[in-house]
Order: sequence, then C-alpha cells, then structure tokens
Amino acid sequence: MEAFDVNQIADPVLYGDPARLQAFMTWLRTEHPVARAEPPGFRPFWVLTRHAHIREVERRADIFNAGPRNTLMPIEVEEMNRQFFGLEAGVESLVTIDGARHLELRAMTQDYFLPKNIRRLEAMVDGLAEDFVGRLRGYPDGRCDVAADVVFWYPLRVAMTILGIPPADEARMLQLTHEIFGASDPAVRRPGLTIGEHLTAVVQEYGAFFAEVNARKLADPQDDVGTLIARGLEGARDLTPSERLGYYVIVATAGHDTTAASIVGGITALIEDPSLIARLRDDPALVKSFANEAIRYTAPVKHFFRTATQDYTIDDIVIRAGDHVMLNYGAATRDDAVFPDAQRFVADRSPNNHLAFGYGPHQCLGQFVAKLEIEAFFRAFAHNVASVVADGPALYTQSAFVSGIRSLPVRLEMT
Ligand code: HEM
Repeated sequence: MEAFDVNQIADPVLYGDPARLQAFMTWLRTEHPVARAEPPGFRPFWVLTRHAHIREVERRADIFNAGPRNTLMPIEVEEMNRQFFGLEAGVESLVTIDGARHLELRAMTQDYFLPKNIRRLEAMVDGLAEDFVGRLRGYPDGRCDVAADVVFWYPLRVAMTILGIPPADEARMLQLTHEIFGASDPAVRRPGLTIGEHLTAVVQEYGAFFAEVNARKLADPQDDVGTLIARGLEGARDLTPSERLGYYVIVATAGHDTTAASIVGGITALIEDPSLIARLRDDPALVKSFANEAIRYTAPVKHFFRTATQDYTIDDIVIRAGDHVMLNYGAATRDDAVFPDAQRFVADRSPNNHLAFGYGPHQCLGQFVAKLEIEAFFRAFAHNVASVVADGPALYTQSAFVSGIRSLPVRLEMT
C-alpha cells in the first residue's frame, strides 16, 4: 500500500483528485485510524477515519463539543475570524453551538424538517426536478456541463424556496456560497485577496443580504424557514444578531452544494453503468437506495471537528482534554468493515447506514429534504433521459471541507 504523509489531509489539491484521495483515506483508515496531524499553518488535530470511531465520538456529545473549532482552517483564517466574529470558526451557527443553546435553536426549525412535514414539499420538489431535468432538452446535440449548467441550480432553488427567497436573488446566493466553501481554491477566491480577506468580504455581503430578508419576513410572514428564523424564539429570549445571521447562513449554505455534489456523483454512476437509467425508470424502489448510495459514495461534507472536554481513549490512544478531532466522513463512508465492496457504487446497497449526514445531536437537519430532492431528480432524469455519456473530464472542487464534482461535460440522449 502506498504510504502517504498524514499532513496531506490539509492539502486542498488532494481533494481535487478522488482516486488519490481515496487511496490516502484507505491508508489512514487501515494503518493510522487515530492519526495525529500537524500540517504547517494549522493547529494540530487528530484524524478519525473509521466508521465506528466517528460514531462513538458523535454519540459522546457530552464529552466532545462541536465548537469552537469546527472545520479545518489555517491559523491565519482562525485568527482573523476570532478578531472579526469573536469565534475562530467564523459565523456561529447550529454546527458550532453545543448543549442547551444548540437544542433551543435547533428546535426552532426541527419540526419543519421532519419527514412527516416535508411531505408537503413533495409536489414543489417534484415540479422543480421536472423543470430542471427538462432544461437538458435545450442543449444542441445534447451536450452540456450537467453539473455547472443544470444540477447546481436545482437544490439551490429548493433551499431558497424553503427559506422563502425569490428566484431573482438566487444567482447572488449561489456565488456567495461557492465563495464561502471554495475559499481555499484559487479558482474560486476573489482576485488579489488572501483567504482571510476573501472570507471577510463574502460574510459581510451575506449579512447585508439576510438583514433585508429578515425585515421582509416580519412584514409578510409565510410557511417557510425564513419566517421561523425571523420570528426567533417567540416568548423566550430574542435571538442575538449573530445567532440570526448564522441560522440564515447555515440553512442557505448547507443544503445545495452538498446535495448537488451527490446528484452529480449519481450521474457518474449512470455513465459508468448504462443499464442503470432503465432500471431506475422501471423500479421506483431502486431510486431510494440509489439516492442514498449516491450520498454515501460522494460524502460531500468531508469532515467536521469536535473538541474533547476531558481525556478520552480511542483505540488505545488518549485524546487529551482540549484536543481537536477531525471526524472524516469521507473516509468513514468507504469503511469496508461496514460496507462490503465499499469503493464501488452499488445502486441497491442495503443496509446503507453511512455517516455522510453525521450522527448524534448535530446530525444533518436537512437530510430528509436532501433525500427527497435527490430521489425526485433521478425519477425525473430516468423518465427524460435515454442515455448519458461522458464528454470530457470531471473537475472536482479543491476543498477539504465540502467538495465534489463541479464540472461534468456530458452528451445526453433524451427519451
Ligand atoms: C448538518 C451533511 C443536505 C442543513 C450537517 C452535517 C453533515 C451534513 C455531515 C453535520 C452533522 C454532524 O455534525 O454530525 C449533509 C449532506 C447533505 C446535506 C451530505 C446532502 C447530500 C442538507 C440540506 C439542508 C441541510 C438539504 C437544509 C435544507 C443542515 C443543517 C445542519 C446540517 C441546518 C446543522 C445541524 C446541527 O448542527 O444541528 N449536514 N447535509 N443539510 N445540515 Fe446537512
């Protein structure tokens, strides 16, 4: 097995090369499941890559805090965040807050996202899926960049509908989201700015944007998450301005690059196995397992961090109080101790208890929306597309946090 250097975990370029990334993760999971990383320019941390270890840490939320160090950021960015936001993670949000305050804030929108309630979104999501897949008919010779031209716009529209933000504001939102998640990617970063300056500018624009949204929701309340956030804790204390901003940012950003990455990954599976489209068309039950497998296989959120509040032993290694731990979901979803033939896309994989949505109290709030969206997309895709073949190389985002295919040239034959 090729040997790597654990500090490569922080190299964004590695995330742009999926085969190499998986070789690296397999090396870590097999040889160094509890690895100490000290990449230059970053504070040290432990890396967990096994499914069982990550689940254990997420379950012990009494010991492992989600904040304040939340994702992998260079010290320079953490310093700037601390100065600018008073928090090294940047804007505080559900994913950086722990304990009673996390429960209190999550409860504001939790019901909205429950399966029984998101059923009312089904018709809207199905309609949008048909609409976006229908746009594929508009390309001469069936040639397009299915990721950049079409897929990325679909979960964005769903997320914006959930928040109650009109289509006219969508392009600006997408740009800001790409800029937040892609800050380490030179192709995404604003010219002439350091990562820190870039993030500061982007977050300020977000703040101004959502201040307008909040005012509109209070004046004209609707059945959407934007209205729930604007109303806040009703009767209890008011949300602080940073809690409110962070809530908008997490709901606006968490749901679309992630879901889009899983959809594009699903399309690559259709390219690799041309028989799959017809099988999806004929077997609605397969669509569900296919969608879940696309999420496992792509694991768009590569990691979150936890911080130990007391000493804790994993695999005979003592994690000290105050130490930081990276939960590497991208590696855990390919753990062959849990998933037979883990490196292969298996459309009807069952069981498929992956950790791409995390686990425990912070487990993805939008997971049922994500599944609904991905399933609706592939139902529509299977009915409208007869075949899909690659028409150029797939390009991946170079980011250690949220990443996946950002460009996928294809040639389509429609039904
Ligand atoms: C949290 C993944 C889609 C909203 C998370 C976490 C992960 C994740 C790994 C952290 C879990 C943990 O710390 O244990 C994903 C993936 C998605 C997706 C892979 C798509 C394939 C969505 C969507 C929404 C959403 C569609 C909303 C519409 C959130 C929110 C949190 C979260 C609000 C914070 C929850 C908390 O800390 O209490 N997601 N997500 N996500 N996600 Fe998602």
